[in-house]
Amino acid sequence: MNARPSPTSGWCVPRHEAEKVRDLLEAVGSLDRRWRPSVEGDRIIWPLLEGATVPQGTLGERITVAQDAWAPAPPPMDPHRRVHDAMTDWLREHHDDAASHHGALLNDLPQRWERLGDLVLLPSSSFGSSAWQERFASSEARPWACLAIAFKAVRLGLQNVVASDTVRSSGATMLLGDHGKVDMLDHGVRFRFDATRQMFSSGNVTERRRMGNLDLRGETVVDAFSGIGYYTLPMLVRAGAEHVHACDINPEAAAWLLEGARCNGVEERLSQHVGDNRNTLPALQGIADRVVLGLLPSSEHAWEDAVGCLKPNGGWLHVHMNVKEERIETWAEETATKLGGVVGHIERVKWYAPRIRHVVLDLHIS
Ligand SMILES: C[S@@+](CC[C@H](N)C(=O)[O-])C[C@H]1O[C@@H](n2cnc3c(N)ncnc32)[C@H](O)[C@@H]1O
Repeated sequence: MNARPSPTSGWCVPRHEAEKVRDLLEAVGSLDRRWRPSVEGDRIIWPLLEGATVPQGTLGERITVAQDAWAPAPPPMDPHRRVHDAMTDWLREHHDDAASHHGALLNDLPQRWERLGDLVLLPSSSFGSSAWQERFASSEARPWACLAIAFKAVRLGLQNVVASDTVRSSGATMLLGDHGKVDMLDHGVRFRFDATRQMFSSGNVTERRRMGNLDLRGETVVDAFSGIGYYTLPMLVRAGAEHVHACDINPEAAAWLLEGARCNGVEERLSQHVGDNRNTLPALQGIADRVVLGLLPSSEHAWEDAVGCLKPNGGWLHVHMNVKEERIETWAEETATKLGGVVGHIERVKWYAPRIRHVVLDLHIS
């Protein structure tokens, strides 16, 4: 990012006026934010961009400064600010011809993102506006490397809507970096997966944490839709489950779960059952203290088999479902009646769509 030479001049102002003048220099695009201001007695010298103009009447004076006198500025703490500043510099460097459009382009930067280890995934709509597409069409330069630095990431990708196929494929694409493999720590649990192939919902963080906070010592658990181990791993690593039987139809996700289990040193307490759980759950009848049913929008096809997995004296079901906000309580009671259980708790995990929530119903069956 510091490819441009350091400034040869600065704007020198009395200390008590320094902040006001800084704001003005910033507003007219003359301040070189990559460098710290220097201090001379009770005067502050703001670094000026090469060729920058300062409006007539601005308090202070331009002075010549040795280029090696500047110290680099620390990166701003707020990542939104860092992204904004990095993109301001990038636009100046690569699209100076379109300076009048910079404001609009800078107002159209991603405002949220998902961090998965050293990989940052931007929302699928990022840089999709006609203004950004025009800029990209006019030059081959892309801001991905500069953005990655601003995010303090190594790789950058673009989210895609999680497919509504059986295996809930991710479909994320890489912008920077040649692979989507992720090795990340989440509340003391290591997860491994390929972000271009498997989804990892950061929005489910509260549920992963909740499952990890349970005391499962001595318990046998069946995870009917284990994926890469979103709930299986926290239950093994943090909650101390005695054994988890993890079922998944996707061999690729199952292979990542095994790798994650090995990284966490819990593979000996894990058994995997790869295949459609309509076929695998019937082989796990009467063995479990609890069954996790973590499939959206609904796991209903597996409910009956899941009840059958519980030990004869009963146990808990954790039923995930997308439910309309106003129907949550009714849905919970109806489900309890249908499965012959008692509602223990309803966890509202995240908004899935406007007015539709991902909820988890803890149901006790005796
Ligand atoms: C990705 S996780 C879901 C995580 C989270 N609860 C969500 O849906 O947002 C769902 C997993 O269920 C698996 N799956 C879907 N249908 C299945 C079935 N009939 N039998 C076994 N696994 C299945 C998928 O392969 C996938 O790994």
